[in-house]
Amino acid sequence: PRSIFFSRHGESQYNVLGRIGGDSPLSPRGEQYAKALPDLVRDNIGDAPLTVWTSTLQRTIQTAGGLNYTQLTWKSLDELDAGVCDGMTYEEIEQAYPEDFANRDEDKFNYRYRGGESYRDVVVRLEPVIMELERQENILIIGHQAILRCLYAYFHNLPQADLPYIKIPLHTVIKLTPKAYGCDEERYKVPI
Ligand code: F6P
Repeated sequence: PRSIFFSRHGESQYNVLGRIGGDSPLSPRGEQYAKALPDLVRDNIGDAPLTVWTSTLQRTIQTAGGLNYTQLTWKSLDELDAGVCDGMTYEEIEQAYPEDFANRDEDKFNYRYRGGESYRDVVVRLEPVIMELERQENILIIGHQAILRCLYAYFHNLPQADLPYIKIPLHTVIKLTPKAYGCDEERYKVPI
């Protein structure tokens, strides 16, 4: 049976600073994850064919850097666009846009950042990615937190209201194996 593997990029410099969005490179810990990933993937998939999909952002491309498989870059896999809040910390957002901050808390799935996107927008933009995923064999997606929440919710059939709160930890590969109904799941955490 074919599997779909999800991983967030390794820890980025913005993750360390608590800043959202942006296009920062990996932190030293993130680089360690990128180094560990090829063996982890090889141990799991053996000689079976695999294609790696990344976003256009450097933290995903860097994380995939050591993987010796066909790679594809999708703009549609870029992280949720936080618009005017891109690059800010949650504390800075709360200070600058208190109403927005409260509204997001009220309805996280539908809240759209000023000049940016909502989770609902991201679900729509991921439709072509999902269609392609359904047709493909083994795929490893090196993605972003919000993006992987949407894909994970799709394959596990989780409700929209829960989707923005799904835990997709760093430095962990999630393996989904679709069955007749639903998916089997395994997780592999890299201890760094
Ligand atoms: O902090 C990392 C990050 O991927 C941000 O770039 C993104 O805005 C955020 O997580 C999404 O998580 P949440 O919707 O919970 O703010």
